[in-house]
Amino acid sequence: MSLIKEKINSENLPKHVAIIMDGNGRWAKSRGEERTFGHKNAINAVRNAINACNEINIPYLTLYTFSSENWKRPKDEVNTLMALLTETLLLEADEIFSKGLRMHVIGNLDKLPPLVKDQLLKVVDLTKENTKGNLVLAISYGSQNEILNAVKNISKDVKEGRVEIEKIDEKLFEDYLYTKDFPPVDLLIRTSGEIRISNFLLWQIAYAELQFLDVLWPDFTKDIFFQCIVDYQNKERRYGLTGDQVQIQ
Ligand code: IPE
Ligand code: IPE
Ligand code: MG
Repeated sequence: MSLIKEKINSENLPKHVAIIMDGNGRWAKSRGEERTFGHKNAINAVRNAINACNEINIPYLTLYTFSSENWKRPKDEVNTLMALLTETLLLEADEIFSKGLRMHVIGNLDKLPPLVKDQLLKVVDLTKENTKGNLVLAISYGSQNEILNAVKNISKDVKEGRVEIEKIDEKLFEDYLYTKDFPPVDLLIRTSGEIRISNFLLWQIAYAELQFLDVLWPDFTKDIFFQCIVDYQNKERRYGLTGDQVQIQ
């Protein structure tokens, strides 16, 4: 039993945790291995994050798996990542299902090799009735592009008379994002020591708590995750109010 886990207050859990899983390449390099060795060793860390969320009942976990910018990496690395993704999905689909998780995918899936896309959609379909928790994979995902597409689609709906300009507010805008059915991100974690967002969920993290960890992704454990939750629970989320106002609420 994890001592850190016991410190978590189950009444104050984030509804939505998002993770930028970074540092695989550096993890491998520090061991004198190829970058792809790091990606292969990242799968266990992904499992740790999913299991940790599942154990404490966090309803939404979004994992930044492959960015729209990652397509610019060397072909070999991209191919390995795609192969690893299909392979892992094949192996883990039953596990995801039996944990009661519903899988979702956000991003420009049309850029993916057909086999990868098919495999992803298969697991999405397989798990669509599950209600214990939601696992969201951001793949071929870029937030600026997501926002631009929302703007284009809203413009189209305005032009064709389906939306009145005066009715455009935050709520309506969110209906045009990939994440329309998910709550806003409460906690964003990035591993690898980099303090940047790298085009991830720019709109959705407006009021998220941000945590940047020095650990490289393949070393990520359940206890590290639980510690993130404990740290999150020690923050006062003020949303623009004063501390006194928040205390009264
Ligand atoms: C994260 O690790 C995995 C992906 C971006 C797909 P990196 O591959 O970015 O590893 P570093 O940051 O180069 O160490
Ligand atoms: C962000 O990591 C993307 C994923 C973790 C999938 P990167 O390694 O691509 O980000 P930068 O290039 O360091 O900003
Ligand atoms: Mg990186």
